[in-house]
Amino acid sequence: METTIYCYTGTGNSLWTARKLAESLNNSETVPIALQSGKRIQTDAKTIGLIFPVHIWGIPSPVIDFLNRLETGTEKYCFAVAVNAGQVAATLLQLKNLLQQKNIKLSSGFSICLPSNYIPWGGAEKPDKQQQKFNAALDKISRIASAVRAKEERPPEKGPLWQNILFSAIYRGSFNRVPQMDKPFQSDEKCTNCGICEKICPAQNIAMVNGKPAWQHHCEQCFACIQWCPEEAIQYGKGTAKKKRYHHPEITLKDMLACVPKRK
Ligand SMILES: Cc1cc2nc3c(=O)[nH]c(=O)nc-3n(C[C@H](O)[C@H](O)[C@H](O)COP(=O)(O)O)c2cc1C
Repeated sequence: METTIYCYTGTGNSLWTARKLAESLNNSETVPIALQSGKRIQTDAKTIGLIFPVHIWGIPSPVIDFLNRLETGTEKYCFAVAVNAGQVAATLLQLKNLLQQKNIKLSSGFSICLPSNYIPWGGAEKPDKQQQKFNAALDKISRIASAVRAKEERPPEKGPLWQNILFSAIYRGSFNRVPQMDKPFQSDEKCTNCGICEKICPAQNIAMVNGKPAWQHHCEQCFACIQWCPEEAIQYGKGTAKKKRYHHPEITLKDMLACVPKRK
């Protein structure tokens, strides 16, 4: 395999980006990060890609855990795509520093803006607005593919300085609290006990208790549970009941379930 693309996703935006990129690159595979838990990460590929969503202006904790287990060698071409809703901030600089500690060079780092899945701040955008973002993202993915094929060296893309300073401080302040940030999740009377939330959670943070989901406080804040519930029966606090759900329209539940560990 020429290229291995490692991907983490909650609502399919990063998976879609990884797939589109893999289609444009020769001889590449997409490997779900959530299936690599606890493993040493090794690949013979000459190029490595890391694709993940920006969470609270930085790298999600499962991706950091994954990076700590990277044993892919220092001589490979390594690129990353931080998928976000408009504020990549210093995420790719954070990644560059983390990789540097392992003597791995981040040769290029790109930001791609796709629809937001952070439902507390707003429901799904109108389909035409989403489509504009998908079209712009496809353009960018084709430019990223050219850069990766040519093994270009580029500085990581980043937000304005004020965002990088302020938002990185918020990221650092909230990082250790993320596992407990599932406390506002609850299911309402529309819950049919289908168990999709339990199955789709990459952190295996949901257990069905007396026919209802119960969050176990080792949450990764990917929002897969609330966004993929077919009945829209999961809420986050009081403000989400009337908000439209979002997941990438070309990514199916089956695609998502193939990216997470199977529940026993
Ligand atoms: C907990 C959480 C935090 C987020 N923080 C940011 C952020 O700091 N900046 C941003 O632009 N988007 C942020 N987003 C939006 C996602 O990065 C964006 O919707 C991304 O495309 C989702 O990718 P996925 O579908 O692969 O999970 C956040 C989403 C969640 C769920």
